[in-house]
Amino acid sequence: ATSTTTETTTGEGWSSRSAFVLAAIGAAVGLGNLWRFPTLAGESGGGAFVIFYIGCVFLLGLPLLLAEIFIGRAGQTDAIGSIRRVAEESNVSKGWVSFGAIGALAAFLIVSFYSVVAGWVLYYAGVFAADFGSAVAAGDPFRGALEGQSQDEIANRLTNLFASPSLLLGMHFAFMGGTLFIVARGVSGGIEKAATWLMPAFFVLLIGITIYGAVVGDVSEAAAFLFTPDWSRLTPEVMNSALGQALFSLSLGVAGIITYGSYIREGTPLGSTAVTIAIADTAVALIAGLMIFPIVFAVGLDPAAGPTLVFQTLPFAFEAMPAGSLIGLLFFILVLVAAITSSISLLEVPTAYGIGELGWSRTTSALVFGGGAFLIGIACLLGYNVWSDVRPLSFWPIFADTDILDTVDGFTGKIMLPLGALLTSIFIGWKADRRLLETTTQLSAPAFALWRFLLAWLCPLAVAIILVTGLFPSLL
Ligand code: PHE
Repeated sequence: ATSTTTETTTGEGWSSRSAFVLAAIGAAVGLGNLWRFPTLAGESGGGAFVIFYIGCVFLLGLPLLLAEIFIGRAGQTDAIGSIRRVAEESNVSKGWVSFGAIGALAAFLIVSFYSVVAGWVLYYAGVFAADFGSAVAAGDPFRGALEGQSQDEIANRLTNLFASPSLLLGMHFAFMGGTLFIVARGVSGGIEKAATWLMPAFFVLLIGITIYGAVVGDVSEAAAFLFTPDWSRLTPEVMNSALGQALFSLSLGVAGIITYGSYIREGTPLGSTAVTIAIADTAVALIAGLMIFPIVFAVGLDPAAGPTLVFQTLPFAFEAMPAGSLIGLLFFILVLVAAITSSISLLEVPTAYGIGELGWSRTTSALVFGGGAFLIGIACLLGYNVWSDVRPLSFWPIFADTDILDTVDGFTGKIMLPLGALLTSIFIGWKADRRLLETTTQLSAPAFALWRFLLAWLCPLAVAIILVTGLFPSLL
């Protein structure tokens, strides 16, 4: 039998198509949608960024998403092994596995700082849980959040959190520990269970908070901000960040979707599945915008606050809102759920590599890579306090003034991830065997032609532009 009809090498797999779809949506929907997207949209002035972003998702992201699902489905083992199999069956050099290695390394590095940021979310969930607890105790459960505190006091919470290595470490430890625990339990017993429980809860919370925002906030102003384009704001830099955000949000370029795709059983329609994932991820980003900005506008705050939008601006808005204490708690639980279903997909990439390529047991592999990422994360969080002067890549102009966490983020996001995406599009657009592509994807002839065209031409060109402008911003 060819590799498209055999069982997965590791014997692991999703129990159904919907399990895969939920897990993949869980991987895609994360801090990228709820924190990074509103931050970037706010900073870039809204409409033009948002419309350009949507174009990137469907013209570049979707073809790459299908390409990664294809590699996993055809290879049926860890990302590197899967690429090797597709290369063998296409009679091209096995050197192509290098992009799987870049991806696995990127996923390992990303999960290290992702867990630190998710730790901040965990801390805020705790703050709001305590606040809601005291609201209930005071017999006023529907009061605003953090009653009686000044804007400075609320903003200082983040500053104080950053100043405390032990608090940051505790949160990082708890989040990474949870991620490691789920990954160690395996594909159907851990990752799939987490996704099938958490993702429905996520959608209920998301819709609930959005309706709340529509009732108490100013949705029309938010919608106008998000969808009315001012094309003069679409600078090369904004386009660059929209492209990068599309890749990050769909989890592309880190071999994560290859890994999840390798657990797909026979008979799953790949094309429509990719479309579902892309639409769901984009819908969540847009809904997150329609959830956050009405609340921000209702109390007259600045949408361009930057990365602190979610941690400083939003808590202040919750103070002034009816039931803000409860809604704040639910909001941070929502973000936490989204973050953990993404972090497990990140840790799964190196873990699957350890199982498939190094012959380790799942528990050993998850412990080694999860533990390693935990240590790198410690360096990232110390960069906010005791090592705040450290600039790891100070010799490199674009990173000259970048702290540890932002260096790991920037190096993976601006270099490794576009590089992974670039090599994926060339590999599938030009090198992979046409018959293997056709029989595995089962696309209609026009859809297949369009997919191949986008992968062969548009993706490499556009992604090369991100890469070059990311490395040499002085060209912009
Ligand atoms: N897509 C995730 C998010 O939006 C981040 C991520 C990137 C997850 C790469 C897995 C792989 O938060």
